[in-house]
Amino acid sequence: MRDRIERQMEQRTTMLAGVSHDLRTILTRFKLQLAMAEGDVKGVEEMRADVDEMQAMLEDYMAFAKGDSSEEASRVNIRQMLRECRKQAAHSGKAVTLKMPDENITVSLRRHAFKRAIDNVLSNAVRFADNIVITARRSKRFLTIVIDDDGPGIPADQREEVFRPFYRLDTARQQETGTNTGLGLSIARDIIRSHGGEIKLSESRRGGLRVVIRVPV
Ligand SMILES: Nc1ncnc2c1ncn2[C@@H]1O[C@H](COP(=O)(O)OP(=O)(O)OP(=O)(O)O)[C@@H](O)[C@H]1O
Ligand SMILES: [Mg+2]
Repeated sequence: MRDRIERQMEQRTTMLAGVSHDLRTILTRFKLQLAMAEGDVKGVEEMRADVDEMQAMLEDYMAFAKGDSSEEASRVNIRQMLRECRKQAAHSGKAVTLKMPDENITVSLRRHAFKRAIDNVLSNAVRFADNIVITARRSKRFLTIVIDDDGPGIPADQREEVFRPFYRLDTARQQETGTNTGLGLSIARDIIRSHGGEIKLSESRRGGLRVVIRVPV
């Protein structure tokens, strides 16, 4: 009985932390855009898109809390989605490049959740590196998205650990301490696994971290 209550508490706390994490990521972008919005109509457009995204996310959480099934899968244009991710990540001022084959890739995904997973990975990359490259390709059975950066990377023996909730590398090189909770990668892994896929870390040829996301299509 006591175990069960503890488990429930833990689940709720993790969920609450997840909600705050997602909202904070978007709100950070929101504030940046606001700061730059003066006389810039385009910035206002993006702000609206962010508000819509936040609203959709909250509705998902509420549906989940009520016990309804959460977001439904839909056909997603991967180029369109990754362009959005790229653009948002580039607000950091870092160089973010997207490389994709010319043909359209359309995959059935829970769009908001999947985008959140990519955004979490990108928000790390722009924090630690200056140059980030996103590549995407589709084979017969898989969609593969690779995010390479030229930052300090993660030592091989820590590449599994960083997926644990609240786990952060204990090094002096942690930039911008304080606001990061160590949840981004564990949330990303949950989302990718719930799509039947996997997310793995290795070393990028650019010297930094390589994140490989692979989901069956
Ligand atoms: N691209 C990267 N380069 C170097 N280290 C990284 C990179 N991505 C993640 N890490 C390390 O992995 C840790 C865990 O990342 P994770 O995204 O889960 O948490 P966080 O970024 O610290 O906090 P949050 O995502 O909740 O804001 C980070 O604290 C950092 O030490
Ligand atoms: Mg993170």
